[in-house]
Amino acid sequence: MSHSSSPDRILIFDTTLRDGEQSPGATLNVEEKLIIARQLARLGVDIIEAGFPFASPGDFEAVQKIAREVGTADGPTICGLARATKADIERAGEAVKPAAKGRIHTFIATSDIHMQYKLRKSREEVLAIAPEMVAYAKTFTDDVEFSPEDAGRSDPEFLYQMLEAVIAAGATTVNIPDTVGYLTPTEFGTLIRGIKENVPNIDQAVISVHGHNDLGLAVANFLEAVKNGARQLECTINGIGERAGNAALEELVMAMHVRRSYYNPFLGRPADSEEPLTNIDTRQIYKTSRLVSNLTGMFVQPNKAIVGANAFAHESGIHQDGVLKNKLTYEIMDATSIGLTDNQIVLGKHSGRNAFRTRLQELGYELDDQAINRAFLRFKELADKKKEITDWDLQSIVNDETQQAPEHFHLELVQVSCGDSAKPTATVTIRTPDGQELMDAAIGTGPVDAVYKAINRVVGIENQLIEFSVQSVTAGIDALGEVTIRIRHGERVFSGHAANTDIVVASAHAYLHALNRLYSALQGEQALHPQRDAEPVTVG
Ligand code: KIV
Ligand code: ZN
Repeated sequence: MSHSSSPDRILIFDTTLRDGEQSPGATLNVEEKLIIARQLARLGVDIIEAGFPFASPGDFEAVQKIAREVGTADGPTICGLARATKADIERAGEAVKPAAKGRIHTFIATSDIHMQYKLRKSREEVLAIAPEMVAYAKTFTDDVEFSPEDAGRSDPEFLYQMLEAVIAAGATTVNIPDTVGYLTPTEFGTLIRGIKENVPNIDQAVISVHGHNDLGLAVANFLEAVKNGARQLECTINGIGERAGNAALEELVMAMHVRRSYYNPFLGRPADSEEPLTNIDTRQIYKTSRLVSNLTGMFVQPNKAIVGANAFAHESGIHQDGVLKNKLTYEIMDATSIGLTDNQIVLGKHSGRNAFRTRLQELGYELDDQAINRAFLRFKELADKKKEITDWDLQSIVNDETQQAPEHFHLELVQVSCGDSAKPTATVTIRTPDGQELMDAAIGTGPVDAVYKAINRVVGIENQLIEFSVQSVTAGIDALGEVTIRIRHGERVFSGHAANTDIVVASAHAYLHALNRLYSALQGEQALHPQRDAEPVTVG
């Protein structure tokens, strides 16, 4: 497979760690980003957009670490985002340098509304800056991607001129963003076709697409773009991202996988070709989805295509009957194709560390000894309460143990009394950042409210709870409950996640997880937003 300007398959550019992380509350720390990047490499994405290195020292470090550890010779290309300024491009160039294949992705807005109100620059000025910055990016790496931001609302004639200029300056990928999720599928397809037909040097660059889901059309738009010549798709796991999110990787990949005979001819292949259209190992999809959801706190709706809890549940009686007679009556794809096992009971109370480690390896988790030890302790605790431990329980434990939020506040104890004739009362003991163990109690409207009030009395950081959800990992009365919460502090949102057979305990841990993230943010620097914050002055 070559990454030439006409790749013989569809390149998957994952931007979960950049655009996905721009979702409110989805902030990840360096370790969490590394864990996701490793999983994206196992999934088989071609390019990982690892972040916006100029945003903060933490963002720079994350991109550099991913470049060093995941950007190996046979691994994915590692990309850093940069506004069209020298300072941003230098930072991105430095951050991706350790990767065997490093890319700089630079962008500037080209719609009249963005140029006039955001950039306060004329078309001529923007047309001069973009190729100059692409040429500057070329001094750091040969692999340079350029995006005309808000291309979907840009004047096509101006867009053609811009693309010709940046390709002449060395851009090897030109990415067409529908930044505000405004276009319809036919319009997006026509835009891509227009670019192919009107940009004279377009054969020297890969055409990529990027789009937001404000009207729920991002995936449909991309598929139309593929039919018209796009060969790179910029997407995120579970479709997370700014506002309504980005195009969902799992939906794009499975649409092209399940309907390959429809899409094959658009890539010049015979309709019945079995050759995959992407490099994605589809069996890694479910695991990646769960990992991203747990670490970002971005809950996946049950009816979400491909990875939602109901996506493969045939609950209605008629459907079940049909599925039992012949699966194809109501199923267009097999659950195992996205790595959903049949959730066998795999381990029990007497299973030892070796069996535990082996099953985790079979599920594709590579944990170091310390993480295995922590996860094994959690497994033993769970096995005391729950007779049968399934693959999904194991995944939940591992994802929980994988969270890397520093534990400034540690929950030592939580106790609740409640019932229809009692006032819900909670007692908590918390170890604070200065090592003190503080105990406090509170009465609430329910057990979780009482716990949160008691925690607030100890921690004392003002915040608002804006989302709370509980999901059971498996069926059964003894199932693990996963709690995901989001809290707001000023303009910023922080998420927390925890799993336990006791949902009140899980709620307490999830809340402390979010508070620990908030506490870290209060101590650290604030990251810049690549599209909304003021641009630094270009030097030279
Ligand atoms: O949506 C958008 O336009 C972007 C660009 C930075 C590519 O995310
Ligand atoms: Zn975007």
